[in-house]
Amino acid sequence: CNIPLRERNIVLIGFMGVGKTTIGQLVAKKLYRDFIDVDQEIEKRHQMSIPAIFEQMGEDYFRKVERELIVDLCTNTRLKILSLGGGAYLQEEVRNACLSHCIVFFLDLSWECWKERLPLIVDNRPVLKNKTLEEIEQLFFQRRNAYSIHNSRVLTNNLDPETVANEIVESIK
Ligand code: S3P
Repeated sequence: CNIPLRERNIVLIGFMGVGKTTIGQLVAKKLYRDFIDVDQEIEKRHQMSIPAIFEQMGEDYFRKVERELIVDLCTNTRLKILSLGGGAYLQEEVRNACLSHCIVFFLDLSWECWKERLPLIVDNRPVLKNKTLEEIEQLFFQRRNAYSIHNSRVLTNNLDPETVANEIVESIK
């Protein structure tokens, strides 16, 4: 890909609730760039919440819309900060588009730390609905396989979003 490194979109990936949106907003502000949260963009275009889209149109439909939007953003935009939904990067086409056109940061968090956030995020995450803690833990570790293909990993354990955002900004200078 011939997009110069400093013009490439920065893509944030990682499990639900690790702070991709909050951190992405901060990174965008610090770099004077636009921020796009893929889930919020899908909600805006559909005038529906993500849980409603899952419920009324099904997960396969959501994954298709998500994939097409991300591939489009990766291929046709630059200088943006993109935050992806936690399941998006499991799709090979999404991974390929991100890795060939952007700089991919994996926001990593230990299971122990993540577990404490579960009560705060479970309500509007259809993927977590009706799952036991053991099933969620399995999903957490399964997904790490996909997330492990990235350009840079940032461990966010016990770090506030501001510190993580600064780390990302420093690392691309
Ligand atoms: C999903 C994560 C969500 C959202 C949807 C599915 C997933 O985004 O895209 O509920 O499969 O992990 P966040 O990672 O922002 O919660």
